Amino acid sequence: MGSGTTLVEAKLLRRNAVGIDINPQAVSISARNLQFQCQSNSKIFMRNGSATELHFIKDNHIDFICTHPPYANIIKYSKGIEGDVSLLGVDEFLAEMKKVAKESFRVLKKGKICAIMIGDIRKHGKVIPLGFRTMECFLQEGFVNKEIIIKEQHNCHSMDYWEKRSNSFLLLAHEYIFVFQRD
Ligand SMILES: C[S@@+](CC[C@H](N)C(=O)[O-])C[C@H]1O[C@@H](n2cnc3c(N)ncnc32)[C@H](O)[C@@H]1O
Repeated sequence: MGSGTTLVEAKLLRRNAVGIDINPQAVSISARNLQFQCQSNSKIFMRNGSATELHFIKDNHIDFICTHPPYANIIKYSKGIEGDVSLLGVDEFLAEMKKVAKESFRVLKKGKICAIMIGDIRKHGKVIPLGFRTMECFLQEGFVNKEIIIKEQHNCHSMDYWEKRSNSFLLLAHEYIFVFQRD
């Protein structure tokens, strides 16, 4: 959920939606951002929990998944909430992403789409291709690639900071949206 952007769009598109975030603060921010009137009878549910464990959703039940996880621990979204994947190093993060992929595959109806937005990261001057490594987690759980979209990313908060320090490497200026299908 984060700040609830996806749920806001779902409401505007008159879709029913389930939003999940491990951080109770994200749930309350999303709830606040959803307090607008529009001609929509959609049902929006919010749940404080982990995307790695969706027992409250039946198998083959969901028409579309849209997820935007943290990029491992590059930005920490909490100070120690258990299950918050933004507190994990790359390998542990990917292990959790495999669980997210497995649960996503289970709850999604056959033939439907799961989209994930994720970017690469840089540690000690070297690129870690977190995007493609996360993509592999979803492929290993049975999804197939329908599209790989490269989203340019400019004018970020951190741009100034990195520009001053980036004389030996290029700035990462894109993210991926992997669009998977459950065949
Ligand atoms: C990149 S932000 C999402 C931003 C969102 N797209 C928006 O527009 O606001 C990542 C979110 O993932 C949440 N998160 C971290 N670990 C999680 C987990 N195990 N299950 C569900 N959400 C988690 C964080 O609390 C954070 O709100």
